[in-house]
Amino acid sequence: MRTCLLILPLLLAACGAEAPPPTAAQLEHHRPADARLAGLYERACFNCHSRAESTAPLTGHQAAWAPRLRRGMPALVASVKNGLASMPPMGLCPDCSDAELEQLTRFMSAPL
Ligand code: HEC
Repeated sequence: MRTCLLILPLLLAACGAEAPPPTAAQLEHHRPADARLAGLYERACFNCHSRAESTAPLTGHQAAWAPRLRRGMPALVASVKNGLASMPPMGLCPDCSDAELEQLTRFMSAPL
């Protein structure tokens, strides 16, 4: 019983608390496993989506991505293609295919 009482607050904290945004050090070496995708990410998306001073949702920051993901993947990919606020059309990746934009978005919106 005593062990249960000790564990309960930890469980509640794990379920209820929002994970903090990832740090610059965490994001520095976090890349898609696929080499081509990693190159596209590094050249384009990384420049905004890994910088805390940008208004972009940070890669791996669940709290920032959750409300966006609820609008569905096609809506998110459409935002990248058309541009959104300070994100330019194609997210500065003119040679990215629709499939690659979706794969990059999935990588960026997944927990770290
Ligand atoms: C020049 C900076 C910049 C670059 C480069 C950039 N983004 Fe963004 N991105 C942003 C900003 C800022 C937002 C938030 C816009 C808003 O909601 O006001 C954003 C939002 C998004 C969203 C959420 C769109 C929505 O409808 O909520 C997705 C998905 C996204 N970016 C994917 C990408 C991908 C994939 C790349 C690389 C191909 C990329 N971004 C490159 C700045 C950038």
